[in-house]
Amino acid sequence: DRGNHRHFMAKEIYEQPETISHTLSHYVDMGAEKVSIRETMPFDFAKLTRLTISACGTAYFAGAVAKYWFERYARLPVDIDVASEFRYREPPMEMGGLSLFISQSGETADTLAALRYCAAQGQHVASLVNTQESTIARESDVVFPILCGPEIGVASTKALSAQLTALASLAIAAGRARGVLNAEQEADLVRALISVPNAVSRALGQEDRIVEIAKKLSKAKDVLYLGRGVMFPIAMEGALKLKEISYIHAEGYAAGELKHGPIALVDEAMPVIVVAPSDELVDKTLSNMQEVAARGGKIILITDEAGAATVGQGVAETILIPQVSNFVAPILALIPVQLLAYHTAVAMGTDVDQPRNLAKSVTVE
Ligand code: F6R
Repeated sequence: DRGNHRHFMAKEIYEQPETISHTLSHYVDMGAEKVSIRETMPFDFAKLTRLTISACGTAYFAGAVAKYWFERYARLPVDIDVASEFRYREPPMEMGGLSLFISQSGETADTLAALRYCAAQGQHVASLVNTQESTIARESDVVFPILCGPEIGVASTKALSAQLTALASLAIAAGRARGVLNAEQEADLVRALISVPNAVSRALGQEDRIVEIAKKLSKAKDVLYLGRGVMFPIAMEGALKLKEISYIHAEGYAAGELKHGPIALVDEAMPVIVVAPSDELVDKTLSNMQEVAARGGKIILITDEAGAATVGQGVAETILIPQVSNFVAPILALIPVQLLAYHTAVAMGTDVDQPRNLAKSVTVE
């Protein structure tokens, strides 16, 4: 049931304040301002020397954001790879390590093959799934649910915000177990997480502006998305979402890599979407952005009030997200990239919920 929405994808984008609340209520003790993991964990975060994450597509970007979180807030080194590469790389693994597989469907063939490889290498196998009665869930030692309800639109939206919410909670749990976060620091991070559903509602309020920007974007042939740090995977996700449903060629790049090649593409016809809410890296990203502006690139900047205040000339459009803690900012920055892709596809009249050549669950390699 699409409710009042034209597409399942729109319904699923708009459901996110609720679905994120649902995920949070599983992982967070709101009263105590603590993360509480209900699943029995067959491993001890304190004893791990490494976490290995594999996933495909959008689920991979969830893991790519989580890498920054586990490394920063739990000082736990993370290896991450797309499952189709991981499975054939035959990486050496230390016995007793932890491998985490992220999959909305729980049926993705490459992710499952990577899981089986890790199980055979004596790893603890954890999975983060939406479909709890799936093959990946069945073959895992511990299953962390994301609880966002069935996702019908082929392009994944609410699953990613739910994956990020669960991964943020796990990173806090790991930080506490490893003695990196004290109770006060944990409470700060948990309060930031608790604020997300409301902030996502406010971010969704930018829709009218985004509809206008998307009309212009729908005329583009190529679009570049830039981000740094945790915003890099969000830039990649923005590009993936746009190409999936609008068929416009898009690429996500680490902002610092721009001058190592892709800046050659920039001209007046090239929209460049810069994902840069205020954080300790924002000045660097904004200076990369000025290099694009100097070459005539049309900049669409996704930032917050504090970020917007530091920007000079050269930005064609600004999309504001609510001012939130750096920790949860990637979840907020996700909302405008979803809406941009959605409204661009609507403007072009493509089949948003069933894009050509794509299947919801990729059970062959
Ligand atoms: C993108 C998308 C795909 C999936 C990928 C993994 O919108 O839907 O990239 O994210 O096929 O699927 P799961 O999470 O089911 O393993």
